[in-house]
Amino acid sequence: MKCLVIGNWKMNPPSLKEAKALFNATKRITARARNVSVVVCPPSLYLQTLSEGVRKGRLAFGVQNAHFDAGGAHTGEISMQQAADSKATHCLIGHAERREMGETNDDTRKKVAGALAVGLTPVLCVGEKEREGGAEHFNFVREQLRVGLADVDKKLTKVVIVYEPLWTIGKTAAMQPRDMHEMSIFIKKTLVEKFGEVGHSVTILYGGSVDASNAVAMLQEGDVKGLLVGRASTNAAAFTELLEAINDA
Ligand code: PGA
Repeated sequence: MKCLVIGNWKMNPPSLKEAKALFNATKRITARARNVSVVVCPPSLYLQTLSEGVRKGRLAFGVQNAHFDAGGAHTGEISMQQAADSKATHCLIGHAERREMGETNDDTRKKVAGALAVGLTPVLCVGEKEREGGAEHFNFVREQLRVGLADVDKKLTKVVIVYEPLWTIGKTAAMQPRDMHEMSIFIKKTLVEKFGEVGHSVTILYGGSVDASNAVAMLQEGDVKGLLVGRASTNAAAFTELLEAINDA
């Protein structure tokens, strides 16, 4: 099973020394897991140091966020170009935790376009905050996709979509694979309506409390091509277990 695993380190670890140790472990694990491509998204402060000397291969880098403008007066931000210059190839966009901080669908639209403009792969995260029992979450996700991808035009296949509902992030259990399967079908249908047949071939990942105990079932039954992993990517033992489980499946 060939799949994509994106590790989102969030605001961890607390020092460059620990980041290097985690990264070296990640490199070793990735080298052993032949059926998995890994993208590490460290805090951008560590990116340049970690990416030095890493050649193109199954291990790549992403940033957790970047600004949509090419430059200018944006205190505290980094640009897509700066991310690319530090060897990032991917950019997470619209992660649920950033949306909680006020990032809007329109911001994600500009960021997706900004990433594509400098050759980064936009990893657009969508997902509802909570489910109320009805079908409202489908409308919510449709709107996130409609606005977030509004400027993509012919580059849809360069975009990665992550379905990661807020209610599964940082919890003890992931979503049921059959529910993800249903959501994957919905996402593809939404994309096909807007972009045509190419919508079927978009890479869709699942995220939210992924670990070695649920990853394989999600990949086999959830109709996804990979996973976005938070906590389990910041612990070398947990990440080893996760990649080994996927690789052996
Ligand atoms: P988690 O985080 O795997 O720790 O739930 C996932 C994410 O927020 O990307």
